[in-house]
Amino acid sequence: VPGQTVLGIETSCDETAAAVVRRGADGRGEILSNLVRSQIEDHAAFGGVVPEIAARAHVEVLDKMIAAALSDAGLGWDDLSGVAATAGPGLAGGLLVGLTTAKAIALVRDLPLIALNHLEAHALTAGLTDNLPPPYLMLIVSGGHSQFIIVRDVGAYERLGTTVDDALGEAFDKTAKLLGLGYPGGPAVERAAATGDARRFDFPTPMVGRPEPHFSFAGLKTAVRQAANTLEPASDQDISDICASFQRAAVAAVSDRAETAMRLYAQRTGPDAPRHFVVAGGVAANAALRAALERVSEANGFSLFVPPPRLCTDNAVMVAWAGALWRDRGRADPLDVPARARWPL
Ligand code: KG4
Ligand code: ZN
Repeated sequence: VPGQTVLGIETSCDETAAAVVRRGADGRGEILSNLVRSQIEDHAAFGGVVPEIAARAHVEVLDKMIAAALSDAGLGWDDLSGVAATAGPGLAGGLLVGLTTAKAIALVRDLPLIALNHLEAHALTAGLTDNLPPPYLMLIVSGGHSQFIIVRDVGAYERLGTTVDDALGEAFDKTAKLLGLGYPGGPAVERAAATGDARRFDFPTPMVGRPEPHFSFAGLKTAVRQAANTLEPASDQDISDICASFQRAAVAAVSDRAETAMRLYAQRTGPDAPRHFVVAGGVAANAALRAALERVSEANGFSLFVPPPRLCTDNAVMVAWAGALWRDRGRADPLDVPARARWPL
């Protein structure tokens, strides 16, 4: 059968995921199954992801999820042409669970293994969801990552900017924790911000005006803490005002960095390159951020693509899809390929 049918496995953070994707000879992708189990409830009491709990939770469910991903797809092992797993970056324990499982499958079922970079999997998703060919400009904003990348081709990425301290989602999570809004914080902060006064606090918009699209959110976090401390005990309205002001500053920072990234993209890819801008990661669910990025895109002649939430947050479809793209290029990684907790794209 021409094309690739790949099993994908994702265990780098607090989602256990398994999926099967087919990439036809025409280059189009088809999702045959897509299973995600979130560990949010396992970690909620701790206000963040606990690595040891995460790794154990992956171990408990992964085998069953892989079996379910195959049966949902109506396939057997013999129908697969490869097995792909996230090998990094992420939490070491979780990465080992997924990658070791993929290695065992590769060995026993005699399938090629593709050990993938998680950020690369996010970066290539637009090819599946929007049939979008490279080059394009990419922003990944999640709990662990904030970066701009030029996707030139499969395997050819140029990172334009990244965060020097916290990731954007992490800044939302820490703000929520500080204000007692629970975990994960992003949705809670957005909800509270809806009834807040975004002008009440003049929080800093970090890195604005710098020549490279880097992020820094530590100063913003400190300013939020100081504001909260002066309001002890804070009323519900105070909390909403802090959230709204925080969100305004964070969105303004990302909008400014996006404009810078668009300028660099245009310089580096030339006048004929398509002006396509793809945003992925959990924070892409934030309506204020999406609206701002829509405005910035329009003002700079870019079309904005945001994959649907279940495919732009952590999932295994993106891993299987990236695996299929690499299989088409003949890639097969050795069975002793290591997991890499740190692995910049
Ligand atoms: O991509 P993701 O599901 O997982 C990884 O971090 O890899 O992203 C989760 C992050 C969390 O930090 C969460 O607080 C943030 O995305 N998030 C949001 C919103 N929904 C999720 N941040 C701001 N506004 C939201 N509506
Ligand atoms: Zn991710």
